[in-house]
Amino acid sequence: MLTIDPPEDAAMMQQADILEEPSSDVLKQGKILIVDDMPANVRLLEMILERAGYRHVRSTSDPRQVLDLYQSFKPDLLLLDLNMPYIDGFEVMRQIRARSRENAVPIIVLTADAELSTKHRALKHGASDFLTKPFDETEVLLRMGNILRTHFYSQLLEAKVRERTRDLVKAQLETFNKLAIAADYRDDNTGHHAKRVGRMSGMIAQALGLPDTFVGLIVQAASLHDIGKIGVSDMILLKPGRLTTEEFETMKQHTVIGAKILSESSSPMLQLAEEIALHHHEFWDGNGYSGLQGDAIPISGRIVGVADFFDALTHERPYKKAWSVEDTVRAIQERSGTQFDPRVVEAFMSLNHTELAE
Ligand SMILES: [Fe+2]
Repeated sequence: MLTIDPPEDAAMMQQADILEEPSSDVLKQGKILIVDDMPANVRLLEMILERAGYRHVRSTSDPRQVLDLYQSFKPDLLLLDLNMPYIDGFEVMRQIRARSRENAVPIIVLTADAELSTKHRALKHGASDFLTKPFDETEVLLRMGNILRTHFYSQLLEAKVRERTRDLVKAQLETFNKLAIAADYRDDNTGHHAKRVGRMSGMIAQALGLPDTFVGLIVQAASLHDIGKIGVSDMILLKPGRLTTEEFETMKQHTVIGAKILSESSSPMLQLAEEIALHHHEFWDGNGYSGLQGDAIPISGRIVGVADFFDALTHERPYKKAWSVEDTVRAIQERSGTQFDPRVVEAFMSLNHTELAE
């Protein structure tokens, strides 16, 4: 069978087009911090950098100032001596790495010590490269340029990845909303019901003190609670008045159909949506669709059950008139402990119901 792989190479080439290597002008904008206890060495490096066009250079010959300077100046590159009084270069590296694990600043170690063991130790502490004293101007500039180029490039890449991830999440949410509109299209072609149920479920979850990540997920996932209605015929779905026992059995299938549509996803949001689709018509006392009872019903289903009931009753549908907010709230309270989880009803009661119905 012929399979077509996504054009990964093309995508990567596109990325490379967008991410140009930082120019030497950009490199010269880099902020350089020089730390060496010998003022003569500091002056020499300052001179080399100034001649090359680096404009943002700070320095100190007192290693005890490095941390403060590092935090206020936020350098792109650190030129660091190893043998210094009070705090040696290894300790400076340890302190800096302890503070900024991510986006670690590159460090070029300045040393007159050609011992391999010293170099190994410096590398272990996170040094990116070495400059051997006495300094050779060309070597200083070339090594600095290389390190800065890599550092800026990876910063650009990280920014790009963050931007792409944001785009991806946005596209995913849009797809969710479209799917929610499709789910409710026949009795609410605006998708407002789905959105309101999502919003209200989030507010109930928050009032219950559930974790923020769960609150964020349920806002999206709850909007797909009735996606299984896609599989129920108009005759039953839009029938005015009571359904026959047989019709009701068919109607009940929308929970199973919904869960099937949403099943086997690796996305936490879709996994929660599957759980909600299956359990949003359970009753606390076990008299709901599947007979599941009390805490055995997932909390997501218990929450969406209340939100869906409130929103469906307070809004007009092709087959029914809207109830008043007061009557609906009373109906929910009356069903606390039978249809609804009393704790969820309590959380629901703490919300502003008039606003929720809008
Ligand atoms: Fe439903």
